[in-house]
Amino acid sequence: MTEQTIDEQQPAAIPTLDVTPVSDAIGAEIRGVDLTDINDATFAALHAAWLKYGVLLLRKQSLSDADLVAFSRRFGDLDDAPPNENGKGGVNGFSEVLVLSNVKENGKAIGALGNAEAIWHSDMNYIAEPPTGSVLYSLEVPDSGGDTGFCNMYRALEELPADIRKRIANLKIKHDSSTNSGGFLREGAKPVTDVRECPGAVHPIVRTHPETGRKALYIGRRRYAYIMGLDLDESEALLDEIWSHATRNDFTWHHQWRVGDVLIWDNRCAMHRRDDFDDSARRIMHRTQIKGSAPF
Ligand SMILES: [Fe+2]
Repeated sequence: MTEQTIDEQQPAAIPTLDVTPVSDAIGAEIRGVDLTDINDATFAALHAAWLKYGVLLLRKQSLSDADLVAFSRRFGDLDDAPPNENGKGGVNGFSEVLVLSNVKENGKAIGALGNAEAIWHSDMNYIAEPPTGSVLYSLEVPDSGGDTGFCNMYRALEELPADIRKRIANLKIKHDSSTNSGGFLREGAKPVTDVRECPGAVHPIVRTHPETGRKALYIGRRRYAYIMGLDLDESEALLDEIWSHATRNDFTWHHQWRVGDVLIWDNRCAMHRRDDFDDSARRIMHRTQIKGSAPF
């Protein structure tokens, strides 16, 4: 056996993945990767593609909850699933897995969000350290409806009219924590009567992505947002202007689900939303969420 050189002892080079952008706005499909069987080098390549494209799609996956959790943990520590509208969190012994579903068993919803539309949002924008991203895996999907949309917040900032960009440079938004993306009042929250008085975290409107160093618009969700220090009317008008720009079609991509699809999104530079769907159809998704690593 010959002695290893120093070069041979270095980690393997990052492999080249089969990466196909899914739109001009955001997202890429990765082909030829089985998420139950990846090594560190393949994960490094996936991670690099994720940072570059903001959202990754992998089709024809077959993941147990243990597989989903093990893969997701490669991105960092995971949040425990929050309790759904019925007070239940986690599934099959995995506290990190959130079930998103409209299915009812014995009259009780097995998951969160039902069949309703979910408005554009960044996950948990209302806490001090919002999550880094999420992995979402489809187990059952309707024939149509329930598409998930993504919005590129780097692009939204880069193409913001210069006068608005200058105006928001040092402004911060208070992100209401009272209601979820399905419009349900969270447990223990009081109905909102004045957005200036809402509970919730305050974040800069322009944030710097901690891994890419790129600046992105960070607007969380429209409902009950408030720009700190502005008159109420001024805050509402500026938020409306920013939102109508940020959710322009050319910054977005909408994914039509098939069973076995996995989407991985970067919550620091992408917003997402979901179409409603026929409640007589079944939709079951399992999701993990990567903990935020830094305030911003
Ligand atoms: Fe979400």
